[in-house]
Parts: sequence; C-alpha cells; structure tokens
Amino acid sequence: MTVETLRWRNNQLEMIDQRCLPSVIQFLPCSDAQTVAEGIKQMVVRGAPAIGVAAAYGVALEAQKLASLPREDFVERMARAFDVLAASRPTAVNLFWALKRMRIRFYEHSKNENLFVARLLLDEAHAIYHEDIETNKRMGVFGASILDDGMCILTHCNAGALATAGHGTALGVIRSAVAEGKKITVFADETRPFLQGARLTAWELSEDGIDTTLITDNMAGHFMKSGEIDAVIVGTDRIAANGDVANKIGTYMVAVLAKEHNIPVYVACPLSTIDLSIPSGDDIPIEERSSSEVTGYGDIQWAPENIKVRNPSFDITPASLITALITEQGIVYAPNKKKLEALF
Ligand code: MRU
Repeated sequence: MTVETLRWRNNQLEMIDQRCLPSVIQFLPCSDAQTVAEGIKQMVVRGAPAIGVAAAYGVALEAQKLASLPREDFVERMARAFDVLAASRPTAVNLFWALKRMRIRFYEHSKNENLFVARLLLDEAHAIYHEDIETNKRMGVFGASILDDGMCILTHCNAGALATAGHGTALGVIRSAVAEGKKITVFADETRPFLQGARLTAWELSEDGIDTTLITDNMAGHFMKSGEIDAVIVGTDRIAANGDVANKIGTYMVAVLAKEHNIPVYVACPLSTIDLSIPSGDDIPIEERSSSEVTGYGDIQWAPENIKVRNPSFDITPASLITALITEQGIVYAPNKKKLEALF
C-alpha cells in the first residue's frame, strides 16, 4: 500500500482527505490542534487508530505553534488544545488513549523549556505512529495463522491502512495472509451511510491486487446463506471490559447473521482499543452524526425534506457473538472480562 494516511512533511501533519477518495487523492495540511480536531470531526481522517495518531500530532503541532509564549500561557493554551481534540469524536477510545499518553508526556516535562517540550511531544507522536504500524503487523501475523488458503472473508466498514497509520487491523490480517501466499478473497460491505466499504476498503484492497467484491449491506445474509462466506473480520472502535465490541453501524447485524449461519466472527483490535474502565457495551458512547449522511450523499439528496432521521455511527456487538479477538499479543477466543484483564 503506497498511499499514506498521515504523513509528517515540512513540520506539518498532512492527512489524506478520505472524504474525496477514491476519485481524488489530496492531502490536507494541518498546523495546529484545531485543524486536526476539525479534520477528525469532518472525517478527513477516520478509523480508530488513525484518529488517535492524528490527535497525538495535533498536540505536537500546538506545542510547536505556542512555543514562544510565556510558560504559564503555554501550559494553559496546551490544556485547551487537549480539550478541543478530546471533543472531536466520542466513540473510538484510541483518541483518548493517545491523548492520555501525550498528556502524561506533557505534564511530566512542562517545567522545561517550551521548545524542548514541543520536541518531546513530536517524538512521542512519531512513536505512536510507528508503534501503530508495528502493532498492526503483529496482529496480521496472528490473524493470518487462523485463515486457511482459499477463504472468503466478509468485512464491514474500513479497518485498513486508511484507518490506521498503515497496514490496517482487519485488512492488515488479510494483507498478511495474502503475503504468506494464501489465496484470500474479500466481500466488502459498502457500509451505509458514509460508504467506507465502497469508497475506502474496495479501493485500498484492489490497489493491493487483493480479489475484492463489493456488495451492499443488505446482501450479506444472502451470501452467508449461499455458503460463499467463510469468516467475518472487522475492526473496532472500543471494546468494553466484558468483551462487547463497538464498531461501525451494521456490525451487530452482520454478527447476528453470522451466528445464524455458523460463520466465525473475528475482531482485529490493538490493545489500545480495549477500555477496561467501561464495564459493558451499554456504557460506550455512541456518536450520532448529521442527518444529511442518511438523506443523501455529497450534493445529492434523495429523501424528502424534513423527514425525521436517526444516524448512530456505531453499534454494539455483544461478546457472545464474537468468536475471537485478534490482538498484537495473540488470539483471544470467546473474549470475556477475565481474558481481557489478563492481556494487560
Ligand atoms: O466512522 P469511522 O469511519 O471512523 O468508523 C471506523 C470504524 O468503525 C472502523 O471499523 C474502526 O475504527 C476500526 S479501524 C481499524
């Protein structure tokens, strides 16, 4: 995969604008926390690990921008930047995980010269970026070990290179299996309403030469029933302590269908996505996005004016429907509280 989701160039963060993919490849330059937060909100960058990495760079950029201020102002404005970034999207815990890591780094050194602190924060953001790629590659190796040659995998949303610093979580597992020489084919749900499957997954997998078939979300049951799907692999935005999984809206429906058809459901998740502070999926905040994502797409509106709309961006799949989690530390079958706690 040659396209970069996020890149550091000329002391700025550049994010590929995922709203325009696949027809236009353009990068949005960001020079402070506010622009990064806006980019996360508007889905320029999306996907749990990617927004965590972007937020870390947002902190580093803000420190760079404010470095010439007197110490007290610097600390106060940095605290505000953390808040702005934390308010960008509520569901993916990687955002808060990355901000916590940056906050610790900031406060343990905030008595040093501002420029020195800014440099440390940039180093930390680079570290989070590189660790994410390494983590995905480790998950890929574990995940590939449970995929057989010739399997057809259904995936939902985009948990690929575009949702991370690189390689991907769910799509990373597929990439790693293919790199091992296994013939893997993929069915990609289009993933209404934002079409991450149709626009992003279909694009990044075909760019890599991986045999991919795009289907609309309501076709998944049909292909499971006809025996064409061997396993489901998805990513996640947050896993509660009991193993319940928050992921893109529609994942729950796919998992229920898979159960009916005896198809295993695997969730690829870095440990940074597990939130032991939240007892169950019921406690995970679910983002509701604009009605315009449901009433149309881009400039086209197909629903009547003023129709009532609901647009939850994520749903919760109970742990009982998950066959296993694929983590960077190995495969966790039938996830539960005890097994998740043991990972840390
Ligand atoms: O709204 P999005 O596009 O940010 O939602 C992304 C997902 O739901 C992904 O499946 C999840 O973040 C895992 S990405 C490795």
